[in-house]
Amino acid sequence: MAGDVRLSVGFCGLEFDSPFILAASPCTDDPDMVGDAFEAGWAGVVLKTTSVETEEVSLAYPMMSSLDVGSERIVGLGNIDLISEHHIDEVEKWVKSLKCSFPGKIVGASIMGAVREDWEHLVRRLEKAGADFIECSFSCPQGTLGSKPGAMLAQDPDLVRRVAGWIKGAAQSVPVIIKISPMVADIVEVAQAVKDSGADAVCASNTVRSLMGIDLDTFCPNPCVRGKSSYSGLSGPAIKPITLRVISEIARRVDIPITGTGGAHDWRDAAEFLLVGARTVQYCTAPMRHGFGIIDGLREGLEAYLVSKGLASPEDLVGLALPHIVPHNELPRRRIVFRILEDQCKRCHRCHVACHDGGHRAIKLKKDRYPEIDEERCVGCGLCVQVCPVDGCIEMHDARGT
Ligand SMILES: Cc1cc2nc3c(=O)[nH]c(=O)nc-3n(C[C@H](O)[C@H](O)[C@H](O)COP(=O)(O)O)c2cc1C
Repeated sequence: MAGDVRLSVGFCGLEFDSPFILAASPCTDDPDMVGDAFEAGWAGVVLKTTSVETEEVSLAYPMMSSLDVGSERIVGLGNIDLISEHHIDEVEKWVKSLKCSFPGKIVGASIMGAVREDWEHLVRRLEKAGADFIECSFSCPQGTLGSKPGAMLAQDPDLVRRVAGWIKGAAQSVPVIIKISPMVADIVEVAQAVKDSGADAVCASNTVRSLMGIDLDTFCPNPCVRGKSSYSGLSGPAIKPITLRVISEIARRVDIPITGTGGAHDWRDAAEFLLVGARTVQYCTAPMRHGFGIIDGLREGLEAYLVSKGLASPEDLVGLALPHIVPHNELPRRRIVFRILEDQCKRCHRCHVACHDGGHRAIKLKKDRYPEIDEERCVGCGLCVQVCPVDGCIEMHDARGT
């Protein structure tokens, strides 16, 4: 611990030793793996979603596919996984033994039911087993169990209110968290329904239903399961901006604790999730790809950031970005222009090409092939800064006379 910084955070009445949690996923579908994650330093886990013993879970393989951009692999990860093949009878034993071996760590259990009795049964058994919280998957992109296959509970605010109310009613004192989907027209309405139900928090938000890509030889989308495919849940860095939008919209309008998930890759992402209103951050794709050991970098990075900001706790970050988010018509209209610093410019001409064909044709190449911005034509759109490979090479200024 550096100076007076403490990474611990409170959430739903629970004390986590840091905001870093493993999300419901293959990482948390085995008690030995969860034990390894706790040893590595993760504060808590959400065990992979379980169901009643009579529920048949039939998986199809392969289930993963990668969204690549150029040579960069797994900008996003698609999966056609379902809930765990391990039912409540096994998972309640895992909860008991994990709580016994790791009393200082937080063990959450995720559930999905087809009918009211299932939801109530699952929450009662897991609370009795000693789960620290119950997360309810209302948002699997393959759909929720029950009478409407393929449909998500999280897309119907009235159903969210009703089903979350049943679950909360069945729980004695264990916190109930509802995991919602970004794929709705109005996320605030859904979060408000969770709050109305009496549930303790929202988990925002699950993967995004996607078609991951098409094989140009076979015409089969990815992942190809013997010539057939299906829609995937997209996770990983590609969905982070969606998650930031979802968390911030909820935090600005509904007074309910938020655990963030969806696209967090490093400690910076966690800091951003906290800045828009989350209190804890769940990781799945990053540890699936790089292993549980990433927790060292997460802890060290966040701690150093807090020190650099003179803050004592991750809780001090929560919501600090929100006052900066305003409707578009409230944005300042003062005119700006950009200037290129020649001593930093590599003359790659990316800014010139982009401005010429995607901007306002404000960048000219001089005789010495250095680009120069014509401040009369520059509207300050900022495309040049985005395409420039050198940080700090292009600077923003107030336009002359403003
Ligand atoms: C292979 C895989 C399986 C998953 N299984 C579950 C699950 O059983 N229950 C659940 O609520 N979320 C499940 N998720 C979603 C993750 O918990 C997480 O919310 C999502 O992947 C977004 O976070 P990330 O971008 O850090 O991966 C799964 C994700 C992946 C990639």
